[in-house]
Amino acid sequence: MELVSLVLKRLFLLLLALLSCPTNTIARGGDLGAHPPPGFMGRGGGLLARRLFEDNYPEITDEMTRGYMSNSELEEAVKKFSKRCANISRIYSIGKSVQGYPLWVIEISDKPGQEEPEPSFKFVGNVHGDEPVGRELLMLLANWLCDNYMTDTLATLIVKHVHLHILPTMNPDGFALRRRGNANNVDLNRDFPDQFYPINDIKHSRQPETRAIMTWVKEGHFTASASLHGGALVANYPWDGSQDTRKQYTASPDDKTFRYMASLYSRSHYNMSLSQEFEGGITNGALWYPIYGGMQDWNYIHGGCFELTLEISDNKWPQANELPIIWDYNRKSMLNLVASLVKTGVHGRIFSSKDGHPLPASVMIKGINYKVNASSTLGDYHRMLTPGESYEVMVSMPGFQQKGTRILLGDESASLDFILDPDEATKNEHTSVKGFGCSCDGKDKLELVEYLRGVHLEIYILVCISLFLCFLLRRKTLCKLLNRRKQITQKRPVVV
Ligand SMILES: *[C@@H]1O[C@H](CO)[C@@H](O)[C@H](O)[C@H]1NC(C)=O
Ligand SMILES: *[C@@H]1O[C@H](CO)[C@@H](O)[C@H](O)[C@H]1NC(C)=O
Ligand SMILES: *[C@@H]1O[C@H](CO)[C@@H](O)[C@H](O)[C@H]1NC(C)=O
Ligand SMILES: [Zn+2]
Repeated sequence: MELVSLVLKRLFLLLLALLSCPTNTIARGGDLGAHPPPGFMGRGGGLLARRLFEDNYPEITDEMTRGYMSNSELEEAVKKFSKRCANISRIYSIGKSVQGYPLWVIEISDKPGQEEPEPSFKFVGNVHGDEPVGRELLMLLANWLCDNYMTDTLATLIVKHVHLHILPTMNPDGFALRRRGNANNVDLNRDFPDQFYPINDIKHSRQPETRAIMTWVKEGHFTASASLHGGALVANYPWDGSQDTRKQYTASPDDKTFRYMASLYSRSHYNMSLSQEFEGGITNGALWYPIYGGMQDWNYIHGGCFELTLEISDNKWPQANELPIIWDYNRKSMLNLVASLVKTGVHGRIFSSKDGHPLPASVMIKGINYKVNASSTLGDYHRMLTPGESYEVMVSMPGFQQKGTRILLGDESASLDFILDPDEATKNEHTSVKGFGCSCDGKDKLELVEYLRGVHLEIYILVCISLFLCFLLRRKTLCKLLNRRKQITQKRPVVV
């Protein structure tokens, strides 16, 4: 019954889309006079509120573009950066725009271009051509990290424990044309396959910029990301679309974690959280106004990547002399969001007990219908979660026995490795208990992910239970006692 109604609903949506838009280009929301299909996107003034379409926006004059980098100046700045900060960065291109501009990415890490069992974060700027603040801020961010690496703790943590990928502009052609869409006038943030809007799944009409991002995400194993927009001041999180196209709160399986991440950004910002329009400076995308074919939902569904859409200035195209202050307002938020990938969540590696090889297994949290996959090369996984709760972590892989364990996630990240036994193998204590500790070399003092050093699961579980009791009883003495205990054990990992 449910299936039938779902199918009918989708057919109806498809029909609506087909009837109301002569070409795909317009269906995906070009800016100039393009009308989204009825029922899609045009929610009660929401568009005007978000000021995403150009109707009442002043034309971008030469005067306004003064002080902003042109596309060739940006390319120059990227190359200059890679020379200046050669030992903590590399640059690479993920493809070309319609007009042939390379889509340059800066990777920042102490081992750029090398695989490490560390989370990766990506920033994408200038998705909409007429929202250029992001591309400027991202170059400022890269340079700031380069200048403050080794002196600032957050910068050092990011360089050492995260691989940060920065794409300053996804839409250089739109920027050059001073408009929202790309050179084909397609809104790139409506060009991705969509869970509710099947017409977007037609492959051949996908824009080169969109295709470049999709390939990048599929290959990149990103843990989280953010795209930068302008026209409002709010951190927006999935879902961006709602099933029946109505404007309403549409929660993703990881709603709680997304709200945590969005709030982290908002609260670290100068005044985003003081918003009158959005409580706490954050919003569910579909509650604000539903969009279809957006990059954010696609990243979460198909890339295993927790993406936010950050609206970082009310004014889409402010005077260039306001950029330093906007950078100042956003710097801590950007750094904290990236650093949250090592400061929170559950991290670890998954191996086979048979030969010790890393396994690209799936990690699930009981009660959350979502899988995060370990990387196929190193078997590392990074699962973002709200701190201060207890979770049941389950790991599965075809051909291996599923394993799980319960953890209490505190204010710090947890480290949890798994060793899976092949289905048919009989339990062999010797192989299933020993860790693969040799991968520890090359790790440093700031160590967040350590490996097995003979900590027994029982002790860990005992500590978790005790901490939980401590939380319940709020007994100061007991807590103090346990805290001492915790200090000894909390950074130790568990291998199950
Ligand atoms: C980068 O170079 C500086 C100076 O040569 C050196 O002190 C630092 O350790 C290098 N950093 C990395 C990550 O290699
Ligand atoms: C945040 O500060 C900017 C600059 O001072 C101001 O224009 C904007 O209205 C403020 N927004 C909120 C939500 O307080
Ligand atoms: C994770 O792995 C499963 C199969 O093991 C696959 O179906 C799924 O698409 C993967 N998810 C991502 C986000 O790559
Ligand atoms: Zn935008």
